Amino acid sequence: MFARAPSSKLGHSILPVANYIPAAVSYYPQRCVFPLFQVSTPRSTHSIRALSDRALFGRKNKNYGQISPASRNDHRRGTPPHLTYRPFSTQDIPEELRNQERCRVESTKPGEPTIHALFEPNTSTWQYIVSDPASSHAVIIDTVLDYDRTTQTISTQSADAIRKMVKDQGYKIVMILETHIHADHMTAASYLQTKLAQDQGFQPPISIGKRIEQVQNLFGQRYGVPEAEYKGVFGKYFDDDEIFNIGELSASVLHLPGHTPDHVGYKIGENVFCGDSAFHADIGTARCDFPGGSARDMFQSGRKLLSLADGVKIWTGHDYPPQGREDLRPWMSVREHRRHNKHLMDGTTLEAYVAMREERDAKMSEPKLLHPSLQVNIRAGRLPKPTPSGYRMLHLPLKFEGVAW
Ligand SMILES: [Fe+2]
Repeated sequence: MFARAPSSKLGHSILPVANYIPAAVSYYPQRCVFPLFQVSTPRSTHSIRALSDRALFGRKNKNYGQISPASRNDHRRGTPPHLTYRPFSTQDIPEELRNQERCRVESTKPGEPTIHALFEPNTSTWQYIVSDPASSHAVIIDTVLDYDRTTQTISTQSADAIRKMVKDQGYKIVMILETHIHADHMTAASYLQTKLAQDQGFQPPISIGKRIEQVQNLFGQRYGVPEAEYKGVFGKYFDDDEIFNIGELSASVLHLPGHTPDHVGYKIGENVFCGDSAFHADIGTARCDFPGGSARDMFQSGRKLLSLADGVKIWTGHDYPPQGREDLRPWMSVREHRRHNKHLMDGTTLEAYVAMREERDAKMSEPKLLHPSLQVNIRAGRLPKPTPSGYRMLHLPLKFEGVAW
């Protein structure tokens, strides 16, 4: 996708980035899975959403998807496993329903975490808080910094919702985990690290797989980012298969290359947070055409995930419900993926997967937030240092259609 990026000095324009200027979120829906309703404005989305909720679930928006509370020590009192989904039908989420917990799986036994999943609809990203019920220690995985590309304005509603949930649940965040350098959204890791340090008196390290340095060097040079702004910005670089603790929980690192070379997943109890290494069964897998990406590696990473026990839950980094699917799902079991994942199900050969993946990737356009995302994410979510005139600037590579001068 970078083949057309120019090499001349003229090939980059520079965009200013507003420095955490709060702004109302402009939410323009991209699609609606209800075939009867076509939406075009936030206002109409709102009313349609209310109609849809009532039609489907027999209640108004204000009661939408309440999660029944459950003590984090329920498993110790023998309470049956508690699992709740918030029904969800479309990415067209009204303002008041944004940044809410969409799914929670309570711990069912010692060694298993309680998991909170929050969906960020503008980038279709699942963000996770994973906690140890015994100690209330927790980690945050793959968060989103809100960004309006029409005005280059950054805001923090999504991250603030996570911060509030952490506070409400009484968690202590011991680590902020990234599965890879995202190319479709900016990470809120640095923002949350700063705010959580104030909230809890402990600054959680931002942690990622050790191969991140290759990716930082590649994109740092490509975008002209000063080394000092991306070298050593992560607090922890995981080895493959490294084991770490979250309170009394044991977690391990799985190297899952393919989407990006640095990509890792985190196995916590009988759960794997796999980032973009597997999507919902009706989507399959993520693209592999980023620099260092590999369809072959992705297939092997998929096999690695699907070789885990049937009941292991694979929590994905995104969901893009196709027409006809009425719910967002943050996880599917290994068993479900082996039976139904359209790209990885049992019987799929390496050759067939690679041919399919490469053909699809060749037709995909680049992510809308590609350039801001890469430049911020190699900095672990920090913003570019301000220029003497006070602007924080990002670079934007230009493309040319048959012209040069
Ligand atoms: Fe990604």
